[in-house]
Amino acid sequence: MTKELVIVRPDDWHLHLRDKDFLPTTVNESAKSFARAIIMPNLIPPITKLIDAENYKQRILSALKPNLSFDPLMTLYLTEETDPKEVKEGFVSGQISAVKLYPAGATTNSRSGVQNFEKIKPILEIMAEIGCPLCIHGEVTDSNIDIFDREKAFIDSVLNKIRTDNPTLKIIMEHITTKDAVDYVFSVNKNLAATVTTHHLSINRNDLLAGGIRPHFYCLPVVKRECHRLALVEAVVSGSPKFFLGTDSAPHLDHDKESSCGCAGCFTATNTLEILAHIFEEHKALDKLELFTSINGAKFYGKNINSDKIRIIKKNKPTSFPEKISTPRGEITIFKPNFETKWQVQV
Ligand code: NCD
Ligand code: ZN
Repeated sequence: MTKELVIVRPDDWHLHLRDKDFLPTTVNESAKSFARAIIMPNLIPPITKLIDAENYKQRILSALKPNLSFDPLMTLYLTEETDPKEVKEGFVSGQISAVKLYPAGATTNSRSGVQNFEKIKPILEIMAEIGCPLCIHGEVTDSNIDIFDREKAFIDSVLNKIRTDNPTLKIIMEHITTKDAVDYVFSVNKNLAATVTTHHLSINRNDLLAGGIRPHFYCLPVVKRECHRLALVEAVVSGSPKFFLGTDSAPHLDHDKESSCGCAGCFTATNTLEILAHIFEEHKALDKLELFTSINGAKFYGKNINSDKIRIIKKNKPTSFPEKISTPRGEITIFKPNFETKWQVQV
């Protein structure tokens, strides 16, 4: 049995670090395992301008402990007012690595997102021209559409049109949750990939809802039936270059999640690799873990593959993680699936 894995240091292609008091915790927790991350721009107010992205990057880097290294890859939050020239300037200069599209109202801090997709046409055209990737939160926001169907409805009513209007635009369908999304991504030849999160590979909607509601399993897009989780696992263990890790680690203070209207988001930065090693081993696919965590994303984004490696070892007994992590503003519960892992990253 394999007891040790040495893989190229992973990247996280979808990460929420938040800001200010949160940064010393969130940045260093990710930097322990990840070399780079695509930093989500859904702050309050959102990161809509290059100057905001640059200042946010500096705040992230100032929070990094001196013994760690971490490269935050910044993004701009797309609004109907975004200036195509600013996107072009930011991408060409390397200040941003992608643009993030939130349908208005789809998730945490997405109010300033896009309502009328016609209005962003000129921006998408420029992005296609310069090769700037578009990260999409793929859910419709129509309150008449059942929350469990919103991803599929988005593919059918929005994504397919964006893609066919802009066949050369590189699109990442973020945090996919359904077999429909897996099938759709497989069906498209070029310029479409998907990130998959740690939690969507680990839990289903029974884990969230059966026998009591578990706020720390609540995220958006909401977790689906077991058949969908299995489709996600099959996709990632296949080694297909179309799927890569985006943890969507999204910290919220415990009192904001454990409330009558709890926030969406799971904090997985601490133990993602340990959880993933367990899942890949269970599916006899440990040899594909590195593709998912460290290779496929870099290739899709057109970035170099990291040169350093990390070691993950398997022990004889389950690895224990702290239940919570502290910030000056309160505690954040670390995601814990309903299984143990014996894997542990060596730092
Ligand atoms: C994210 C957050 O809290 O910022 N929440 C989540 O459930 N994933 C936003 C997002 O990525 O949808
Ligand atoms: Zn997210």
